[in-house]
Amino acid sequence: MGQASVIVVGNEKGGAGKSTLAIHIATALLHGKAKVAVLDLDLRQQTLGHFFANRAAWLAANAAEAPMPIEHAISSAGDALAKAPEAEQLARFEAAFGEVSQTADFVLIDTPGSDTAISRAAHSRADLIVTPMNDSFVDFDMLGVVDPVTLDLKRHSLYAETVWSCRKQRATAERKQIDWVVLRNRLAPTEARNRRRLDERVEALSKKVGFRVGPGLRDRVIYRELFPFGLTVADLSPAIRPVAMSLQHVAARQELRALMVALGFQGLDDAERIAAE
Ligand SMILES: Nc1ncnc2c1ncn2[C@@H]1O[C@H](COP(=O)(O)OP(=O)(O)O)[C@@H](O)[C@H]1O
Ligand SMILES: [Mg+2]
Repeated sequence: MGQASVIVVGNEKGGAGKSTLAIHIATALLHGKAKVAVLDLDLRQQTLGHFFANRAAWLAANAAEAPMPIEHAISSAGDALAKAPEAEQLARFEAAFGEVSQTADFVLIDTPGSDTAISRAAHSRADLIVTPMNDSFVDFDMLGVVDPVTLDLKRHSLYAETVWSCRKQRATAERKQIDWVVLRNRLAPTEARNRRRLDERVEALSKKVGFRVGPGLRDRVIYRELFPFGLTVADLSPAIRPVAMSLQHVAARQELRALMVALGFQGLDDAERIAAE
């Protein structure tokens, strides 16, 4: 008890899919009957916060039930905390983190696409960092620069540096390893050549920088169209079906399940149930 597993979704790149991944991991864990606390450290965008507000509203309006997280809005005053001094932000984060990690099985933290003090604080508390990246050399550039011919690592770049220093800090403070999984997001079926080249480089970089490569997520409408309802594919059931089901949804659930397994979690055990309907 009192020892929550801390998952941080991060990448110092906007639009990589952090919040999308965070809501999917959160709902998948919730359906695995875990007590999940969520903290949204993107104080300006508040995507995670909005998602769960949508969820509560949709469930109430439809008299439906779905598991909810323990939510601790570290920024209840909208944009106010975003403009507050760093020390105040840190204090609010520490207080929220201390509170939820007592009661939750998992603390899931979404972070902004930039290097902020609270984002760093969260990263150094992580047991697992999950980093989505678009299938693009532009996103790859946030992790490392490799020689284009030999694939030798020339240097870590921005985000790998951040993770590196948080890992060092964590190892010194608690002798704990932070597991780091990088996965490709918004994979397009038509980009085989670009993907192969990127695959080689991500693999090469993974050994040098020290992350695992997770199974990617395709670019699918279902990963974004359920947002206004506060739902994800993990929630779909005969009682919760705001859009017509299709084979795409079944494929998306399988994709999400494969990701959860790679991250080391169960959950989504009912995927077959939906597929069978
Ligand atoms: N696998 C995906 N398939 C379809 N759309 C996606 C996928 N991942 C992310 N998106 C969309 O891409 C945009 C950026 O994603 P978001 O999760 O907000 O990124 P971040 O939090 O890293 O800034 C959003 O419009 C989101 O709906
Ligand atoms: Mg986001």
